[in-house]
Amino acid sequence: MRIGIIGAMDEEIALCKEAMGEVTTSVKAGITYYSGQLEGKPVVLCKSGVGKVNAAVTTQILIDQFQVEQVIFTGVAGAIHPDLQIGDIVVSTDCLQHDMDATPLGFAPGQIPFSEQWIWQADPQLVKRAVEAGRKLDGEIRVVTGRILSGDQFVASREKVAKLHEQFAAHCTEMEGAAVGQVCAMNGIPFVIVRSMSDKADGSAHVNFVEFTKLAAQRSFEIVRHMLAAEEAEVIVYSTKNCIDCNMVKQWLTERGVKFEVRDVMTSRAWQEEVERFGFMGVPVTVKGEKAVKGFQPSELERLLES
Ligand code: ADE
Repeated sequence: MRIGIIGAMDEEIALCKEAMGEVTTSVKAGITYYSGQLEGKPVVLCKSGVGKVNAAVTTQILIDQFQVEQVIFTGVAGAIHPDLQIGDIVVSTDCLQHDMDATPLGFAPGQIPFSEQWIWQADPQLVKRAVEAGRKLDGEIRVVTGRILSGDQFVASREKVAKLHEQFAAHCTEMEGAAVGQVCAMNGIPFVIVRSMSDKADGSAHVNFVEFTKLAAQRSFEIVRHMLAAEEAEVIVYSTKNCIDCNMVKQWLTERGVKFEVRDVMTSRAWQEEVERFGFMGVPVTVKGEKAVKGFQPSELERLLES
């Protein structure tokens, strides 16, 4: 599965490019595409440039010429939701163009005239993976899901923020996501937009943007990296740090060279609930696909791995 990764600016792709190591470079429509691997997965990374037209062209080329099967956008945004702070991360549930305005013709704000579709749904699986990846970051970093707005405007006024929040119930605003989302939807390609807040889209936005873009872009990329790394694990071990049987399971899997992801249920209510969904109250619980084994039971674990 080849994954397209897009950022709009140098800061938004720099860490990804560095992490990819050796890459093959090709230029199409003036955009440079870097093909290589991230966390052992085939990816094509590119810098779209700023704005919806750049983002749309870049995405269509990724799909047509690089045959990517999923698209992840990583970058920074201005916060719209009042609870969001600089550095917080928004994973898109959906996205739309806030500057699409044919209201004088009777269309809804954001509606693409004569079209019933103008809100682009992110892929639920990718959203889930991004949120799970967020749990691997420093606990101080807040990761939420929500609506992302895109427009060919750098938003820098409190009045505009209030209006966008009221009109669209959005979490943040940027300049590319909805174009990526629309092109992906038109091609049947799953996508997700991951944005860390560089500013609050208010009167200080231009200053904050300069100061915090590097940090925010770094956080967004960390999500992408963990998303790709997590995919590798064929087994998940729900556990706690100091439980003896949990450590026995981890050691047993390690000795057999099985890649596994550890989910410490003490750090996340959602992970506790996942354990309960399998019908168990305690840990360790080792999961592969839809099957689970409770406790440290080597013969049961053998059977699980063979399944
Ligand atoms: N990207 C980061 N901050 C932004 C803002 N305030 N408006 C539009 N795009 C942004």
